[in-house]
Order: sequence, then structure tokens, then C-alpha cells
Amino acid sequence: MVDKILPLNVKNAFVKKRGKRIIGPIDVQLSTKGFTMVMGPNGSGKTTLLRLLHGLENPREGKLKWNGNIESVRLEQSFVFQTPIMLRRTAIENIIYPLKLRGIPNDIATKIANEWISKINLENSSNVNARFLSGGEKQKLAIARALTTKPQLLFLDEPTANLDGSATKEIEKLLQEAHKAGTRLIMTTHDMGQGKRLADDIIFLYRGTIHETAKAISFFKYPATQEAQAFLNGDILE
Ligand SMILES: Nc1ncnc2c1ncn2[C@@H]1O[C@H](COP(=O)(O)OP(=O)(O)O)[C@@H](O)[C@H]1O
Ligand SMILES: [Mg+2]
Repeated sequence: MVDKILPLNVKNAFVKKRGKRIIGPIDVQLSTKGFTMVMGPNGSGKTTLLRLLHGLENPREGKLKWNGNIESVRLEQSFVFQTPIMLRRTAIENIIYPLKLRGIPNDIATKIANEWISKINLENSSNVNARFLSGGEKQKLAIARALTTKPQLLFLDEPTANLDGSATKEIEKLLQEAHKAGTRLIMTTHDMGQGKRLADDIIFLYRGTIHETAKAISFFKYPATQEAQAFLNGDILE
């Protein structure tokens, strides 16, 4: 039985590369429920923040305190990258494989994978090598693969940045369903509209620190800081 891993408390965390501060100090708490959108100008540290929270970056200072044991923390979260990473296998095997790694028997894994393949409208490409799918199809598959293991927490780094409107729409639907089902979502986006459509709350990053956190509804209407106001106006922020 895996424990709950949230809330997560981050205290005074820094990520540095070759002595240079990339982000920090970061102080934030991730609650057990909700859809958080991380927004901010290019280079403000959005990707690095997600990587820190997911454990892909070690904090040079400070710490992350999870509400669960190490094994649960590892198993209960997943990360979807801007450019989806596919296994060199067929589309359906991309979903089956991680389930089998978690000890789910082949027939059950195949059944679950087939359900997801139809949910993401990939029935006709189910046996195609995943490398030959379109960008949108790959990203849908990456998200399905992340969700089949039912993580408590899912990170997504600009998952629709390279996709057209219809693929983006399908992906937003998948994410809204996951949100409804209780998955804790943390995602970065450049797209204001996407923030408005999906987010419960916003983390606004500026120059490597959290400049503002707010409920989405108030962030978009009444940003508290000049920088967020400028960002929302589409001004160039450095
Ligand atoms: N591995 C790294 N080494 C050196 N600098 C990095 C590294 N990763 C990110 N940076 C720098 O840190 C800043 C924040 O990067 P990033 O987290 O990718 O921002 P964002 O996702 O908001 O565009 C950028 O200026 C970037 O060039
Ligand atoms: Mg980024």
C-alpha cells in the first residue's frame, strides 16, 4: 500500500549550476488537490522548478519535505516533458511497459492499455512504432502512459507548446479529467488562455524566484505585482 505523498513543503531551496543560481530561494507548499499552473517569462526558471519538485534536480541548499516514504514519493509522481520521450516500441507497448514494470500482469496491462489507446483515439496506430507518430499523438501517448499508473502527482512542462489547436484541445480534456479524478497537477505554460482554462491557482516565477502565488481567477484579473501585470499585458520582461 502506497502512502499519500502530499502536501509537499519546500523550504529555502536553491538550484545552482556551476556555482550560478538558477532558481531560489524557493518556498512553497503543494497542497493535496488542485491544478497549479507555473507561469513566467522565458528563462524565469519554470522548467527548473518542476525538475526540482520532481527530484530531477537536487537542491543545493534547502529541502523538500514530502508527506510520505521515499518509495511512495518515487512511485506516486510522473513527469511529462515538452518533447515527449517514446520507448522504441509500438504505441500500445509504450503504455503496457511501465505497467508491467510495476508488476501488473500482462493481460491486465494489455486491457488497461487498450482502454487508454481508445480514449486517446489511437486505435488505428496502436501497433505502429511510437517514433512514427505525430507530435500530438506522441504527447497524448506520453500523458496516457503517465496517467495509467495513477500517480497522485503529475508534472507537465509545456506539454502543448509544439502542438496544434486540436491536439491541444484533446490534451486539455485528458488533463481536466485527471484533475476531476483527483490527480494533483502542476504544469508550465506560455499560453495565457490555457492558464485561464485549466488552472485553479498560479505560481508566477520571475528571475528564479516565486514572485507571486494566487488563485487563478484573481491572478488574471488583479495581478498583485507590476511584473505579473506586464507579463499578462504581453510586455517583454527580462
Ligand atoms: N543546466 C543548466 N546550466 C546552466 N544554466 C541553466 C541550466 N538549466 C537552465 N539554465 C538557465 O537557467 C534559467 C532558467 O531556465 P529554465 O528553468 O529552463 O527557464 P524557463 O523554463 O522558465 O524558460 C535560464 O536562464 C537557463 O538558461
Ligand atoms: Mg521551460
